[in-house]
Amino acid sequence: MSEKILVIGANGQIGTELVAALRGIYGAEAVIASDLKSPVYALRKNSGPYEIVNVLDKDNLHHIFEKYNPTQVYLLAAILSAVGEQKPKVAWDLNMTGLLHILDFSVEFKVEKVFWPSSIAVFGPHSPQQQTPQYCVMDPNTVYGFSKLAGERWCEYYFTKYGLDVRSLRYPGLIGWRANPGGGTTDYAVHIFHQALKTGKYESFLSADTALPMMYMDDAIRATITLMNAPAGEVTIRSAYNLAGISFTPAQLADEIKKHIPGFEITYVDSDPRQAIADSWPKSIDDTYAQKDWGWEPEYDLPKMVQDMLVNLKDIV
Ligand code: NAD
Ligand code: SER
Repeated sequence: MSEKILVIGANGQIGTELVAALRGIYGAEAVIASDLKSPVYALRKNSGPYEIVNVLDKDNLHHIFEKYNPTQVYLLAAILSAVGEQKPKVAWDLNMTGLLHILDFSVEFKVEKVFWPSSIAVFGPHSPQQQTPQYCVMDPNTVYGFSKLAGERWCEYYFTKYGLDVRSLRYPGLIGWRANPGGGTTDYAVHIFHQALKTGKYESFLSADTALPMMYMDDAIRATITLMNAPAGEVTIRSAYNLAGISFTPAQLADEIKKHIPGFEITYVDSDPRQAIADSWPKSIDDTYAQKDWGWEPEYDLPKMVQDMLVNLKDIV
């Protein structure tokens, strides 16, 4: 049977790249991009079906499921960590109600596979911070983090109770050049490249020695599609898989950028609310289950990612 793939939240940092990758594999017509707003330039360019959809509007969403009868659904609409702390109830509502709508309609319309991303934000101050394991104490203290942890529990529940084939990854902070990030704690690691090329300077909102798990977007997209194509029997985790790429601090990232832009200068703000969020998260991730179950291995280390970001961004910014 041919695929019909619905991507909700397609205009965002991940959606922009995921839709292009899926259209490359399955063809433009097989991938229905959708978002609250009209398509961003990158989605208009690699044209294919596009729908304005509000994941919180059940009638609107039901109509889209009826119209396309999707075989796969990717739910990317969410409010991320930093914006979530400014609008906690709005974030909880979108991140939870949106997911429950998708899980319910996916059961009703017999969707074959659902992808919903979790995050390193499911961990908290009492989780081990180095090589954080798949299973450990999880006490997230951001609304974003506990909405993701509750979401993971719902995904596993729908798999166990209703046999819905839901798959998920705990993405680290994602870094890419094709789209801007949407309000997270790890956004500095994208902004820094734009500012380095534009002005040769960057003021980081995280302190010099704040290590966080990160990943280049190409690796994240490849991990997502690899997980979605893995035989169902090999997907042993139905909450969300730990996923590791690169771990680094703002100072280490700046040093790597200086190898390409020798005059680049980084400074650090005195205080920022995102620092407390970053301090509660892991510094590095143990992704043994992803390696073992579906052969995960990242391709980008810090030098390779920095080189690729600068080469691609230099003609854009
Ligand atoms: P983003 O903020 O860049 O994009 C989210 C998109 O959802 C936006 O285009 C927005 O317009 C859309 N949207 C918002 N409300 C909507 C609604 N009611 N109906 C339909 N669309 C709506 O986010 P992203 O970075 O692309 O993240 C996608 C997913 O991946 C989220 O679940 C996020 O938590 C998760 N994630 C992202 C990262 C990261 O570093 N980017 C890391 C971990 C997890
Ligand atoms: N990059 C995301 C954030 O900072 C992590 O889920 O919110």
